Amino acid sequence: MNSANKPSAVSPVQEVDPARDWTPESWRAFPALQQASYPDDAALQRALTRLASLPPLVTSWEILALREQIAEAQQGRRFVLQGGDCAESFDEVRAPVITNRLKVLLQMSLALVHGLQMPVVRIGRFAGQYAKPRSSDLETRDGVTLPSYRGDLVNAFEFTEESRIPDPDRLLKAHAYSAMTMNFVRSLADGGFADVHHTEYWDLSWVEHSPLADEFHRLTESLGRSLRFMETITGRDVGSLKRVDFYTSHEALHLPYEQAQTRQVPRQWGWFNLGTHFPWIGMRTAALDGAHVEYFRGIRNPIGIKIGPKISREWLLGLLEKLNPGRDAGRIVLIHRMGDLNVEDKLPPLIRAVQEFGSPVLWICDPMHGNTESTGDGIKTRRFRRITRELELAFEIHRDHRSRLGGVHLELTGENVTECTGGARDLSDEDLKRDYKSTVDPRLNYEQSLELAMLIVRKHAQNGA
Ligand code: PEP
Ligand code: CO
Repeated sequence: MNSANKPSAVSPVQEVDPARDWTPESWRAFPALQQASYPDDAALQRALTRLASLPPLVTSWEILALREQIAEAQQGRRFVLQGGDCAESFDEVRAPVITNRLKVLLQMSLALVHGLQMPVVRIGRFAGQYAKPRSSDLETRDGVTLPSYRGDLVNAFEFTEESRIPDPDRLLKAHAYSAMTMNFVRSLADGGFADVHHTEYWDLSWVEHSPLADEFHRLTESLGRSLRFMETITGRDVGSLKRVDFYTSHEALHLPYEQAQTRQVPRQWGWFNLGTHFPWIGMRTAALDGAHVEYFRGIRNPIGIKIGPKISREWLLGLLEKLNPGRDAGRIVLIHRMGDLNVEDKLPPLIRAVQEFGSPVLWICDPMHGNTESTGDGIKTRRFRRITRELELAFEIHRDHRSRLGGVHLELTGENVTECTGGARDLSDEDLKRDYKSTVDPRLNYEQSLELAMLIVRKHAQNGA
């Protein structure tokens, strides 16, 4: 995926000392929330020992290359597009699903590169996004209470006693499915995506339904022209010009699983999580004195931190101090997910606090998780208008505070699901019953994702950035 992209000699990333008093298992002395409780500890230990001996999914030089790119994004020289499923499932490790997800991410990134006039760092929520935090340990249906589904890494979604028992073999399966996904992604990214570079092959039928149809047409035409121009001057197909970089990410929630993939490598100091390039800490497990923060402080990967309306100034600065004591560039990405109704109140004081503190961060906006609601029929959904509203406000707030929104974090799929309402085709609550597949959070579909990318370009131009 990124092996051609080794860190350059003039690195903006300063190296700091390894974390003190830290080992890959030092998190065990701290309270660990959202962990699975396995009935058979011996079976769990066997699975973890095997996992720790399997080949890694990513390499240290890819991780360091991503850190450099995040450092550049912090300097305003790149934009980050992070997207994928809320939760991957083993069943969906299939060629069309992976291809379509990669395709939509790539098409979005081309629209962003063209519209923002800067390189885009593409990070998938895939090849390991198998563990989910839950608001309750138990789920009750029709008077029957069972353990909650915690993602395919832990148990199965089916509502039976047997399915919901945490199964250690799933740890090995998750690693294998992640490896299959990575393998296919690497092959596709290595040049199999030529048609994605031709806008005439994109499915843009939805554009006609948008009130912004004229603007969107102009945008795709000018994108198509610049891609053709590139081909003309180089005499080569754009798709074959350069392999496309894709990085992977997931919420590093299941600490024994993450620990087993935390390794040292020759000729590098410190420890790397080699299960993904970019692990993030979820909102529910970001406690300063919790096990997750302890685990993250010792790895050299760039780290995402989700921050929601409940975060305080002290908490946020505490996290920066603990996770990036050397104030290293390219280390921290703050993923704010406030909701459209909270972002104007909550975000400005945090931006000011981080500015005063002086530690480098990249701010990106997750406009999904603060805007989840239930329909009258109890279906979990998100409204496209609220998603775009939070994103637009985030762009404005950062600009007004001499800060910069340097990326987006989205839950999306390349399939034509109906999980979020609105968008150019104005999906209604009724439409949600047609093709709702997610077992966890509602995702943008193919068309809504492309539309959102174009709206970002539009907002960027309006912001005069
Ligand atoms: C998620 O990204 O799927 C998630 C659970 O997010 P958060 O931790 O922000 O609620
Ligand atoms: Co989610």
